[in-house]
Amino acid sequence: MIKINKIAIAILKALNNQVEYVSGTRLSEQLNVSRNAIWKQVSKLREKGYEIEARPRYGYKLINTPMTLDSTGLAASLKTQLIGTNIVTVAKTTSTNDLAKNYAKNGAEEGLVVIATKQTQGRGRRGRQWHSNENGLYCSILLRPRISLDQAAKITLLTGVAVVETLQEHYSVNAILKWPNDVLVNGKKICGILTELSADPEMINYLVIGIGLNTNQKSNLWPKEIAEIATSISIETKQKIKTQNILQQLLAKLEQHYLDFIANDNYDLISLAKQYSALIGKEITVTPNNQAKYNAKAINLDESGALIVEKSDGTIVSLWAADVSVRTNKKRR
Ligand code: BTN
Repeated sequence: MIKINKIAIAILKALNNQVEYVSGTRLSEQLNVSRNAIWKQVSKLREKGYEIEARPRYGYKLINTPMTLDSTGLAASLKTQLIGTNIVTVAKTTSTNDLAKNYAKNGAEEGLVVIATKQTQGRGRRGRQWHSNENGLYCSILLRPRISLDQAAKITLLTGVAVVETLQEHYSVNAILKWPNDVLVNGKKICGILTELSADPEMINYLVIGIGLNTNQKSNLWPKEIAEIATSISIETKQKIKTQNILQQLLAKLEQHYLDFIANDNYDLISLAKQYSALIGKEITVTPNNQAKYNAKAINLDESGALIVEKSDGTIVSLWAADVSVRTNKKRR
C-alpha cells in the first residue's frame, strides 16, 4: 500500500543524534547493502533538503533536517511502536480524515498516519470549515480500539490531553483543554480535533482522529475573523516550528496515552482532562446542537467524558456534544 524506503530510513536513524561521523563502511555493513547504495540514498536525502556532510575517511554526518515534512524523516525519527507504523504524506488533499477513512475502509491497519501539507476541504465539527493553508499541521490517525461506541468521546479527550502536554512540555506554552475538542493558548484556539468513526451497533470498527494544529501560521495570513480567535505555536514562541519534530513528539504522547487507556485499568483520563480544563468552575454559555443557547456553570467532567453543567435555575445537565464558551462577564443570570 505505502512505499517505504527502508534503506533511507535506516541511514537517517543511524545518523540521527550522532555527533560523530558514521563511516560508509559501517553503514553498508549494518544495513547489508553496498557503499554505492548508501551513497545513492544520501544523495536522494540531500535533494529532499537533508544537509548531510560527507568527509573522506570519516564518513557521513547529519547537519540539518528540512523544515518541510517528508515521510522518510518522520519514520526515522518516530519512537512509537503502533502510531506511525504506516505513514502517508501528501502535498494536497481534500481532508486527511477522508483519506484516512478510505484507507480504513480498504483494511488499513491501526496506527496509520495521514499528513497533508494543505487541505482543500478541511473541516471541523458541525460542518465548519478548517482553514488549511501550507503553514499548519493537518493529520489523521487511524485507530481500531476494541471499545464500545459510548467510549469514543474519550479518545477525543485523550488526544486533547496529548496535544496539551506536547505544547506544555516541548514548547513551554500555557496550553489548556477546552472540552470537547479544542486546545487554547492565551484564550485563543491553537488546535482542533475532529474524531470520525464507523461502528457496528455496539463496537467501534475504526476511528479516525483528525488533528489540526496551528504551527507556523502568522496572523496576517489568516482571514480577519480567524486571526481574532486563533493563535499558532510560532506566534506564541516567536520561533519557526519543524513539522517533523512536533509530529514525532505529539505521536509519542498520543501513543503513550492511548496504550494506557486501552490496557491499564488505573489510567485516569478524566482526572488529567480536568487538570488541564479551561472550563471547570467557569461561567459559560452553552450552545447545544439545534437548541437555544443558555448560560450555566461548568462543574465537572463525568466518567464518560461528559461535561456536567449547572443551569441558572439549579438544574444539572450532562453534555456530550455542544459548543461552549467561557463568559467574561461573570454575573449569573
Ligand atoms: C474543530 O475545531 O472543529 C476540529 C478541527 C479539525 C481539523 C483537522 S485538520 C486534519 C483533519 N482533517 C480535517 O478535515 N479536519 C481535521
